[in-house]
Amino acid sequence: MVVLNVNIDHVATVRQARLADEPDPVWAAVECELAGANGITVHLRQDRRHICDRDVRLLKETVACKLNLEMCLAEPIVRIAEKIRPDQVTLVPENRAELTTEGGLDCARHSKRLAEVVRRMHSKRILVSSFIAPDAEQIAASAETGCDAIELHTGMYANAKTQRAIKQRLSELRAARDFAMTRKLVVHAGHGLTYRNIAPVARIEGLCEFNIGHSIVSRSVLVGIRQATAEMIELIEKFSR
Ligand code: PXP
Repeated sequence: MVVLNVNIDHVATVRQARLADEPDPVWAAVECELAGANGITVHLRQDRRHICDRDVRLLKETVACKLNLEMCLAEPIVRIAEKIRPDQVTLVPENRAELTTEGGLDCARHSKRLAEVVRRMHSKRILVSSFIAPDAEQIAASAETGCDAIELHTGMYANAKTQRAIKQRLSELRAARDFAMTRKLVVHAGHGLTYRNIAPVARIEGLCEFNIGHSIVSRSVLVGIRQATAEMIELIEKFSR
């Protein structure tokens, strides 16, 4: 079965733009679940630019499907994951200046720390996925450090402009999937996936979980703004002379 986790970080981005209490990602998570999402993904960044500790705590209590916490390997964040115990963590690199997660995690370079974090997560019964480029060295390092799954970075596919480049990126994803399966890793995919580019990736057999955020949150603003405007007009008309 192929599942969709909705990444709701950018619901919190809108809230943080005003340091207000709406829109609440906890409410958004309920809506995603009611629509059939199999999981909710949030990235607790070190700078707390969107999702905050309170969100992860409340989501852990309220999300009935899978809660997938994206996080870097920094110790304070690892401790929060140990305490809150999401169903799964996806380990990502984090650079304070980036707009979004840029590259994959260098699991080969950080193998010692990664193995330690995997061990600590497993001792709390948390599944571990590593967000990596579709690259054999990174897949091997993820398997050797004990990860349960990998999330293949689809950003290079999403950014490919020509048919030739798109074909090349898709074949890299398929090769990575094949290699990961020989290492008994579950294969997820995400980053930059949209309503326009999802079809060829969804056709790749063996990718069993998609993490999609920006495109879904963007669309939700547009498909929902008509009702939101109508509701405000109704209130104004009701209370104005
Ligand atoms: N997967 C990972 C590991 C990510 O860091 C992100 C972005 O937070 C996503 C998936 C979702 O990417 P997008 O917002 O482009 O759908």
